[in-house]
Amino acid sequence: TDVIIVLGTRPEIIKLSPVIQACERREIDYSIIHTGQHYSDSLDSVFFEQLELPTPEHHLGVGSGTHGEQTADMLVGVEQIICEEEPEVVLVQGDTNSVLAGALATSKLDIKLGHVEAGLRSFDREMPEETNRVVTDHVADYLFAPTEKSKESLLEEGISEAQITVTGNTVVDALYRNRELAEQKSTVLDDLGLVEGEFFLMTAHRAENVDDEERFDNLLAGVSNAAKQYGSEVVYPIHPRAESSLGEFDITVPDNIRLVEPQDYLDFLRLESAAKLILTDSGGVQEEACVVGVPCVTMRDSTERPETVTVGANRLSGVDPENIMTSVISMLEANETWENPFGDGSAGQRILDEVVQTGQKVNL
Ligand code: UD1
Ligand code: UDP
Repeated sequence: TDVIIVLGTRPEIIKLSPVIQACERREIDYSIIHTGQHYSDSLDSVFFEQLELPTPEHHLGVGSGTHGEQTADMLVGVEQIICEEEPEVVLVQGDTNSVLAGALATSKLDIKLGHVEAGLRSFDREMPEETNRVVTDHVADYLFAPTEKSKESLLEEGISEAQITVTGNTVVDALYRNRELAEQKSTVLDDLGLVEGEFFLMTAHRAENVDDEERFDNLLAGVSNAAKQYGSEVVYPIHPRAESSLGEFDITVPDNIRLVEPQDYLDFLRLESAAKLILTDSGGVQEEACVVGVPCVTMRDSTERPETVTVGANRLSGVDPENIMTSVISMLEANETWENPFGDGSAGQRILDEVVQTGQKVNL
């Protein structure tokens, strides 16, 4: 095998799909290691089916655990497969524990590591994802920065310019490829009885929000109040982590927030483009809202996607109900349009161009 792609969670499956499809088109000898960090069908197999991805050659079946347990199990598993397959390049994407494990295993062996979506920084080390990003960038050989801004962050940390390629974000490739399909095929609006342009879409799954009873309660109250102001219903496809918190905490979900199962990709894209406003703490959802042109409020104190705020597509509210209200009002009153800062949908190809060029030096 020449190229190994390591993935393990919903956003990695979606954002690496354009890279996998480019490998298929170019007939590159590649294989996929699935760490098994996500395993529920609704976070995992549904995306392989819908995006027509091949079944991974390797599945580590690691599942959930503490950061230490999960990362350690993945590290051992990835190392073993890399040693057997001896690839030229290993690719990881994003900022999850699967990325950290893939990066550490690869960098200790004499194998090149490529980091897709390099250089994102929230500068908030309370987030486990920030640690994963920083460590991965500093052990990577090839850094695929989605924007000039992310390239700059890498340069400021002393990473050499020769290692960095600005590619755009593969989230755009996946979105462009599937947006029309979603429009044609998805029946989610009818199924949920929703009218285009009238509802709010929300997602919340970050550890710092949903593992903390007070923050989660505040967040729900803030979203509910803001939606009432506009007479809108809120649809919340709930991540299993948040669902398990609701089971544990003494929190009542307000009536105008409708919990639904995690959605498949086409249905979720349809919900995003049809929403009046999106409220989220997700990374990928901030980007997608920006690309589809729907105003976004991010219920966090920091974002590693500042481009969305700069172009006027996004506003940070934290979880304080009053701040959520103010942010929602200001995004909806602004009624702005903006340029997509995340590239032209060819990031997957650019990444592979670089990898193949690299590989040629080592006879790929
Ligand atoms: C992980 C990533 C996060 C990313 C998110 C994408 C880390 C540190 N976090 O968070 O950056 O935004 O994925 O969705 O890597 N669970 C299930 N089924 C599953 C997976 C998880 O029920 O398939 C539940 C379990 O109760 C588990 C909890 O969700 O304990 C958390 O899962 P975990 O993989 O630790 O983190 P995520 O919150 O999914
Ligand atoms: N997504 C989805 N169904 C949902 C919620 C999200 O398909 O119910 C997709 C969304 O389109 C985006 C990705 O999942 O591409 C974002 O993943 P998530 O929010 O879990 O992780 P993050 O981006 O915060 O790491």
